[in-house]
Amino acid sequence: MAVAYGSQPGRRGTDSPREGEAGGLYVTRDAVPRRAYLKPRKREHGPFGCRAAREKIVADLARDLGVAVPPVLLFVRHDAPQGEETSCCVSLVLYGRQFPWHQIKRWVEDPTQSERIMELVMRDLPVSAARALVLNAWVMQSEHGDHPHNIVFGLDSDGGPHFVYLDYALALGHRFVDDPHFRALGWRRWKDEEGWKAPVTVPFPPLMLQHVSRSEVDATLSRVEDFPEGEVQAVVGRIPGDYLHEQERDILIAGLVGRRRLIRAPLERQLMGSGGGT
Ligand SMILES: Nc1ncnc2c1ncn2[C@@H]1O[C@H](COP(=O)(O)OP(=O)(O)OP(=O)(O)O)[C@@H](O)[C@H]1O
Ligand SMILES: [Mg+2]
Repeated sequence: MAVAYGSQPGRRGTDSPREGEAGGLYVTRDAVPRRAYLKPRKREHGPFGCRAAREKIVADLARDLGVAVPPVLLFVRHDAPQGEETSCCVSLVLYGRQFPWHQIKRWVEDPTQSERIMELVMRDLPVSAARALVLNAWVMQSEHGDHPHNIVFGLDSDGGPHFVYLDYALALGHRFVDDPHFRALGWRRWKDEEGWKAPVTVPFPPLMLQHVSRSEVDATLSRVEDFPEGEVQAVVGRIPGDYLHEQERDILIAGLVGRRRLIRAPLERQLMGSGGGT
């Protein structure tokens, strides 16, 4: 579905990151009280990038699984300057006030710095991080190591304070994992079974791993294992052809369906090595 956001830079909050890897920007729309983040602006050549499609597919799967990834809408950027991407997406900012992970991390390490917020953080972290960890393993998210702001903690929403997990543009076996760092760890593109079958460990903030709820990991894993194949086909199949090349579509469906039952053992190993948890 296309949506009408002004695609010129919107109001920038104090939490605005420097221009990100995809060159995105905050945008606003009169009818919607919150900002949204528009990306990518940088164009990627060839059929296998499809970053906006990856963001949308993962956000839709997350919604089905109860993982806190904000809603993503596809957005055709008709007024994109020459040479910039037109097949974009917007990710809705759910909170008026949010703290990036690098700040929360300091508070987790030293809770006396902000006891009130830490109480809210620790109320949410075990369950929300458990769910995100499982989603990340399923979709092979490479971007949630100790990244400073790909995970944020939001306040002042009707839904209550919550962590929000962001930035899935390079998930699902994007060619980015050809990077020597990831290749050395066994990551491969999903261009064939060798890629999506790889039993890799997805990076996740070590401090979060220490506190994840093991029972919630288990429950979310079961939901992924039982996730209907038809729903995967529907979520991926409804992405328009100018956002997702046909060949990549088939790969993503095969990978998502095939990985449902491949992630439990590597995740259990990862948690065994992290200590903590309940
Ligand atoms: N829906 C959202 N809600 C809250 N914050 C958001 C949202 N979308 C983006 N942001 C903020 O903007 C940052 C940049 O967005 P994103 O990570 O998706 O783009 P990127 O190009 O990959 O940036 P980077 O290279 O910095 O990771 C996020 O890390 C986050 O702090
Ligand atoms: Mg990012």
